[in-house]
Amino acid sequence: MHKLGIGVLSLALAGIQLSAVAQRKSVNQRVDSVMRLMTLDEKIGQLNQYSGREVTGPLVKQNANMLNDIKLGRVGSMLNVQGVKNTRQVQEVAMQSRLKIPLLFGMDVIHGYKTIFPVPLAESATWDMDLIGLSAHIAAKEAAAVGLHWTFAPMVDIARDPRWGRIMEGAGEDTYLGNEIAKARIIGFQGKKLGGLDAVMACAKHFAAYGAVSSGRDYNDVEMSDHQLWETYLPPFKAAVDAGAATFMSSFNTLNGVPAAASDYLQRDILKGKWNYSGFVVSDWGSIDQMIKWGYVADKKEAALKAILSGCDMDMMSYSYLEHLKDLVSSKKVSVKIIDDAVKRILAKKFELGLFDDPYRFCSEEREKAELNNPEHVNATLKVAQKSIVLLKNQDAVLPIKQSVKTIALIGPLGDSKRDMQGAWAGANDADRVVTLLKGLQQKLGNNVRINFVKGASIKTNDTTGIAEAVKIAKDADLVIMALGEAYDMSGESRSRADIGLPGKQNELFNAVQATGKPVVAVLMAGRPLTFNQIADKAKAVVYAWFLGDQAGNAIADVLTGKMNPSGKLPVTFPRSVGQIPLTYNDYKTGHPYNANVFQYQTGYIDVPNSPLYAFGYGLSYTTYKYADLKLSNTTMDKKGVITASFNLTNTGTTAGEEVVQLYVHDPVASVVQPTKKLKGFQKVALSPGESKTISFTISNETLAFYNQQLKWDSEPGKFKIMIGGSSDKLELQADMELK
Ligand code: BGC
Repeated sequence: MHKLGIGVLSLALAGIQLSAVAQRKSVNQRVDSVMRLMTLDEKIGQLNQYSGREVTGPLVKQNANMLNDIKLGRVGSMLNVQGVKNTRQVQEVAMQSRLKIPLLFGMDVIHGYKTIFPVPLAESATWDMDLIGLSAHIAAKEAAAVGLHWTFAPMVDIARDPRWGRIMEGAGEDTYLGNEIAKARIIGFQGKKLGGLDAVMACAKHFAAYGAVSSGRDYNDVEMSDHQLWETYLPPFKAAVDAGAATFMSSFNTLNGVPAAASDYLQRDILKGKWNYSGFVVSDWGSIDQMIKWGYVADKKEAALKAILSGCDMDMMSYSYLEHLKDLVSSKKVSVKIIDDAVKRILAKKFELGLFDDPYRFCSEEREKAELNNPEHVNATLKVAQKSIVLLKNQDAVLPIKQSVKTIALIGPLGDSKRDMQGAWAGANDADRVVTLLKGLQQKLGNNVRINFVKGASIKTNDTTGIAEAVKIAKDADLVIMALGEAYDMSGESRSRADIGLPGKQNELFNAVQATGKPVVAVLMAGRPLTFNQIADKAKAVVYAWFLGDQAGNAIADVLTGKMNPSGKLPVTFPRSVGQIPLTYNDYKTGHPYNANVFQYQTGYIDVPNSPLYAFGYGLSYTTYKYADLKLSNTTMDKKGVITASFNLTNTGTTAGEEVVQLYVHDPVASVVQPTKKLKGFQKVALSPGESKTISFTISNETLAFYNQQLKWDSEPGKFKIMIGGSSDKLELQADMELK
């Protein structure tokens, strides 16, 4: 993160906290005044969320029962009603209810509403919190302009298994990076204070440990030690609370046998207890009554009972609260106090959003039109896309494309694809807004270069008939660019894959084209890390382009032509083989440390190296950087002290660039064995050719602490290793220090 970025973020946070105290007081008073008027039925209604797929669209399709329920005050929120016209129509129905309590409109605006940004995992590769915040802010601006109040984002689940399709929706594998990104996204969505017309409520999801579903299969069980939960999976949720996330969503998985939707431990003990969270928790879609299928409860009534008691405030689409809470209160299984607490949390947000003052304040057709066609949003998505690209290989400096290249063969099923570029969870996307790679290259290279394009293969079939034509155009070319990868709907929710290689006959296509001897630049696009050992070995260059959104083609063309020097770094480890999963940079030495030259009695496989194909934090540039002269301000400190680690970073090449410098620490002897390295800081530094800068990181107790055996966050005196470099597997600067 830019140093400035950290300062601005913490100032913004301090401001939010101060004004929040005063604001909460008056909001609470207003909430109480409404509560006094409410019947039990009306209170329960606030806890119910319906999906509006059925009520939006042409009026004839409206579901009379749902609208009637809204009129009767039996609905607190709708999801998937979007557009000023639709939200206004449905809000008008809520205004016919006895107490005229406004509805909340929510939707999954994950990486853009109309302007589609790179998928969240791709954005995480920027390591640029200002850009990530900007992307969330623009998504929120567009969402708020179409009448929405709430996005079900960000997903802050740490994900260490690329088989899991939802890895595309988060910040990757690392907790420290995940914390920073969670904060940036939440502040981006919500603005400084809820209630702005350019902001929506964020929702930190999925609470908790969803990213660790067994075998990467979506919706699965999670068995996890408390230690791992606290050390790795919970911190981004805590960061979300600290950043002021208005809402939380519980997850579909079980955690150690208990469905998260009914977890006292997660919702009451941790979130609303230890963390004193004042927002509200919504279930995931239908997850309350899915507890019947899990075999955790016998029926819907018991499901409602367990969910409300454990702290789930709003029921998304299972009708369990609506159907059973009243009975549960009558039979004294649920106290009115518990219902009141949930209702108050929801009403407070409606007040904070200003909806009691004006339920239609997000319903301006003028604003809708302006924001959905705002050219600044297009520029922003291009900028984020350019910086999300990770250059993985560049043998013989084949990139950027040389002036001498006069004919390019663009080959591959993703070369001219529009919809795929937008990835999963693409809001109210419009595929016609997408600039494809072919288009981007044509625009960038103009008439100077001839570009021939063939698909060569398809992603979802085993058709090989296009390969011959692909080989033909490759033979005629000076350079081959291959656009390979997954289709947009092969990652995302319910899109787990057991084989994360290139689908269809794309490997065959690559091999045939590569055999022509022409230099091949592979541009790989996907919502997850793929395995592609052969391509990594044989292509001259490999560019990882994820799914970059509407401006994908321009962004990739900018990098290929050298208009933009790539600066992305992987936010997740790329394995060589599915058998290595889960594979992260922060592994353990074990009692039998790995030695690549010995094949016995050591941690490791006998058939593949332990190392990944590409490590966390890795990414090349068109320039080179020299890391030198690491100095610690002191080599010892006590728990209250700090040490500054500074070093010189020099751009030793001839191109301006941005480098993500990374700080890792290792505690070699600890009461809970520590990984060989943990990311504890990063900065993105811009350098012109030949320029040097002195970069500093501050090491404090926080940098050295971990969850000990009593689950207390603390450090232990002793020696520590400080490591700095441009990738987790290449930390050229190292020094020892001691904590007294
Ligand atoms: C997903 C959530 C999403 C919700 C509403 C669920 O299936 O797990 O992440 O917010 O649907 O669309």
